[in-house]
Amino acid sequence: LYEAGYKKDLLGKSVLVTAGPTREDIDPVRFISNHSTGKMGMELARAASQRGASVTLILGDTKLKAPLHVNCIKVVSALEMFNAVKTEYKNYDIIIKAAAVADYRPKYPASEKIKKTDTDGTVHNNLNLELEKTDDILEFLGNNKTKNQFLCGFSMETQDVVENSRKKLYKKNLDMIAANSIKEKGAGFGVDTNIITLITPSYDKQLGFMTKQETAHSILDEIIECTKRA
Ligand code: CTP
Ligand code: CA
Repeated sequence: LYEAGYKKDLLGKSVLVTAGPTREDIDPVRFISNHSTGKMGMELARAASQRGASVTLILGDTKLKAPLHVNCIKVVSALEMFNAVKTEYKNYDIIIKAAAVADYRPKYPASEKIKKTDTDGTVHNNLNLELEKTDDILEFLGNNKTKNQFLCGFSMETQDVVENSRKKLYKKNLDMIAANSIKEKGAGFGVDTNIITLITPSYDKQLGFMTKQETAHSILDEIIECTKRA
């Protein structure tokens, strides 16, 4: 099925997008997560599909429905997302990692609900949760990039946005990183708009204030330009 109005400049290309937050269990009733809604990744998957790509979306814990014609793999935790990515990644020309992956997870998730009061009546006024680092999925992808694969990460910062994001570009061996400043109005989580700077090893490009749909198409435009230059 073809949607009118979009140039099919990704025809024959395969695109893998990860989107949404991950969720890390503390006990059977509680978890750690973040404010990501998955909108940006969803728009990227939709836009790539509209432009003719064959798209797989690895989707974290969000209520949003995956776009039509996109192969959607639902995951919950960072570990599940990592496993899904490891199964899939070799088959794609372009990988865009928009997911907000938890950096830490409870080291010993409780199998029973954590209670404030023990059976002997002792009340716990404080609760210490030990957290352990999750695997960096994007760094794994950077270290295992297949030939001609284009890898785009996302970056969320509250200060020194471009400098800190550029560091991630090098550290994770990326071809591009889309840097998000969540402090600016109309940018970041839950809203339909974004203010993003695209950073590559050779230049920065400010996209300015636009809808997430427009941002998605601009990111794809830039990726296509970069792959032409390469
Ligand atoms: N990322 C990932 N796996 C993780 C953590 C992050 O794949 N365990 C990816 C995100 O999907 C995103 C990129 O790394 O594409 C940058 O995420 P961000 O949170 O901005 O930076 P981090 O590298 O996690 O560093 P920090 O949170 O400490 O700033
Ligand atoms: Ca992080």
